[in-house]
Amino acid sequence: MMTCGWEVKFAVRRRKRSSAIMKKQIQIANIVVGLFILTIFLGCADKPSFQFNAVSKKEAENGTPFSAEQSQDVANILTALFGTPDDPAMPNVNSFHWYLQYDEGYAEDFATLVDFENLKRSAGPVSSDENGDSRGLYREHCAHCHGISGGGDGPTALTLNPYPRDFRHGVYKFKSTSGKARPTDDDLMHIINEGIPGTSMPSFKVAINDNEKKALVDYVKYLSLRGEIERLLWTMTSELETGERLPLVFADGYDKLSEEEKDNLMGWFEEEGAKVESLFKSWLKAKTSPNVKQPPTAPESFDPKHPEHSTLIAQGREIFHGKAGDCKSCHGFTGYGDGELNNYDVWNQWAKGKSDDYIAEFVNDGALPPRTIAPRNFRNGVFRGGRDPNTLYRRIKEGIQGAQMPNAATLTDDQIWSLVAYVRNIKSEPITGGQSHLPVNDKPIN
Ligand code: HEC
Ligand code: HEC
Repeated sequence: MMTCGWEVKFAVRRRKRSSAIMKKQIQIANIVVGLFILTIFLGCADKPSFQFNAVSKKEAENGTPFSAEQSQDVANILTALFGTPDDPAMPNVNSFHWYLQYDEGYAEDFATLVDFENLKRSAGPVSSDENGDSRGLYREHCAHCHGISGGGDGPTALTLNPYPRDFRHGVYKFKSTSGKARPTDDDLMHIINEGIPGTSMPSFKVAINDNEKKALVDYVKYLSLRGEIERLLWTMTSELETGERLPLVFADGYDKLSEEEKDNLMGWFEEEGAKVESLFKSWLKAKTSPNVKQPPTAPESFDPKHPEHSTLIAQGREIFHGKAGDCKSCHGFTGYGDGELNNYDVWNQWAKGKSDDYIAEFVNDGALPPRTIAPRNFRNGVFRGGRDPNTLYRRIKEGIQGAQMPNAATLTDDQIWSLVAYVRNIKSEPITGGQSHLPVNDKPIN
């Protein structure tokens, strides 16, 4: 349930005061509190607040809950840096600026990471401005799945498989950049335009115009960065001694500190500030100089009309099943995606190897019930990130971030092209050799 911070506090204060008065009055006070809570429930639909990342907080706590002050510090810092769902901010334009000044040039550059107008158009309640342009785009089109905080936990998430993406890890699957590098604006635009076939992620190609799509690309990046910094802050909190608190310099502004306080903080910031800064840099790099390699030209035999095409497919088949590729260990002998069903993706890693009780506590605190990651079933012919040859080449060459699919670092270009030809062909390959798929997949999985 979404709550509005200040209203919750108000209700609690009221309850405290009522404990000092007589019984009958307490009953009346309880009704008042009840009405307050009802107001919170009804009134917050259009005034939601960002929620803590329940999983990363609980993981960082590691059995010893943070104090109320420590949690409040994280909330304050995040609000100072990123504002609220109705009133977004970007850190480079306010309190964070002081730190970046030590790294000449960056303060200026970070301002180009996202367009502030785009954030304002995406944030807030659904409405339109004096020019008739839509506002509140994220809440209108995305939040019911991806959640107000971008946690992939909107009201419809529980009914969806796979779950909507949790943006707060900054990890994206279907992108053109190498390895862990962030997606480019074009990659995110592509997802918004095409959706993700085989999942509930819809295509917004015709539903919204190009400026609106650009605004949402920036908002996705904003939610990612905010979420990543929140996760970092929980880790920093876990490193504090009991009773110690995060320096509130992020929230209150460096200028307000005394000279001595400034000196004391420098050591801390050399380490911790650098981590925050590198998150910004990674997103900026994806925008200004992304590591995007064009796939090499496909061999002539890639053309289905070429006489050697079936040889290429056969070569792909051998690599898929053999040691060189070992794709079958996850995707299964028959390509049904049933080779390995116990892996967890990065969003659900926290549950790996944990007891039911441990998991139940996380779910109780707001985590979605964890799910294992299913390797792709090639027999239904649907490729989520796109089925064109260049895209599939990239996917196999680079692997899939967050989903446990490794990159094909040791395979040659030709071997990868043969795998592209093979995986596109699996759906029409007869199931032979007595290797039928596992009973668990009597119903083909997606
Ligand atoms: C009906 C639910 C739904 C709605 C509405 C929705 N999404 Fe998604 N979205 C998903 C699901 C599910 C996935 C994860 C698919 C997967 O893991 O393969 C996803 C994934 C994504 C990704 C990650 C792509 C990647 O490469 O990892 C982005 C970015 C995204 N959505 C953006 C948006 C934006 C922006 C909007 C609103 C304009 C939106 N989504 C609306 C369900 C939805
Ligand atoms: C450790 C397990 C693992 C191995 C090994 C593996 N994959 Fe995957 N693969 C996955 C998972 C999991 C997915 C689904 C990712 C998702 O969409 O969430 C996937 C998805 C894919 C996709 C679908 C991409 C799309 O856009 O839908 C292709 C193609 C693919 N794998 C090819 C290969 C090939 C070729 C190999 C061998 C070189 C291979 N995989 C090895 C786990 C693996």
